[in-house]
Amino acid sequence: HRHLLGIQGLSRSDIETILDLADSYVELNRGRDKRADALRGMTQINMFFENSTRTQASFELAGKRLGADVMNMAVAQSSVKKGETLIDTAMTLNAMHPDLLVVRHPNSGAVNLLASKVNCAVLNAGDGRHEHPTQALLDALTIRRRKGRLSRLTVAICGDIAHSRVARSNILLLGRMENRLRIIGPPTLLPPGIGNFGVEVFEDMREGLRDADVVMMLRLQKERMDGAFIPSMREYYHRFGLDAEKLVHAKPDAIVMHPGPMNRGVEIDGLLADDINVSVIQEQVEMGVAVRMAAMDLLARNLRARNDRDETVPC
Ligand code: CP
Repeated sequence: HRHLLGIQGLSRSDIETILDLADSYVELNRGRDKRADALRGMTQINMFFENSTRTQASFELAGKRLGADVMNMAVAQSSVKKGETLIDTAMTLNAMHPDLLVVRHPNSGAVNLLASKVNCAVLNAGDGRHEHPTQALLDALTIRRRKGRLSRLTVAICGDIAHSRVARSNILLLGRMENRLRIIGPPTLLPPGIGNFGVEVFEDMREGLRDADVVMMLRLQKERMDGAFIPSMREYYHRFGLDAEKLVHAKPDAIVMHPGPMNRGVEIDGLLADDINVSVIQEQVEMGVAVRMAAMDLLARNLRARNDRDETVPC
């Protein structure tokens, strides 16, 4: 693949290749010397048009640990604020010969459009409600390491599905790996036609959680809600917030996930989120660095192979 724009374009074997390589980077990251040289001589530019803590920090660390020169474009201080378009901004940076462009943007499809205009490899760090492929991959790595497999599991995804690129990418990935998917949330926060995605839909959290191996909670994305009805936060927590009492309905060894950032006391009880016997939230963050290293390593190999091919073409 030339870019990583979404899970949509990845086969089962592509996903396994990324996760296998990411496993080796988990070990590297746990060691004293974290350096590798898969991106040596390469330039990585991170362009975040939307706020981020985990994704931005882990892409930056991933690039640095692999030996790339990493530049974080300060969007708030850039000419974007003078009205320069996304495409003009990307073309300007493209002229500086980056090898990897990591992009987060509030508009669904913006990253795909940008990828069609530049020469380098583009990685989608989250675009609107569309996709967040590295989040789904890091979630998959966390699940695979905890459960010993990434198929034949019952996974409950709970909360604001309608606005969630994390849910969309996870449904695509976990569906491709042949898991049983349950979607739980109020009807106002479910996208139309969700039933066509090969998932079961529940409004009752206790029913939806029954015998789940994995419980994935999602943040209420108020910034994307433009008028969609949600109950009061107290009512939402009562019906859809995960606490120890509701978790009893899942399997005894179920794991609890959340992509972050969390609204404690809205979609998840704070004590449960911090309970290391069930919560793998910090592990998800750790896996994020390894998965992003693997994704960039694989794209860099393709870039090098393409360059080598181009150089050997006879004039
Ligand atoms: N999970 C996630 O994308 O978090 P950030 O918005 O902090 O990057």
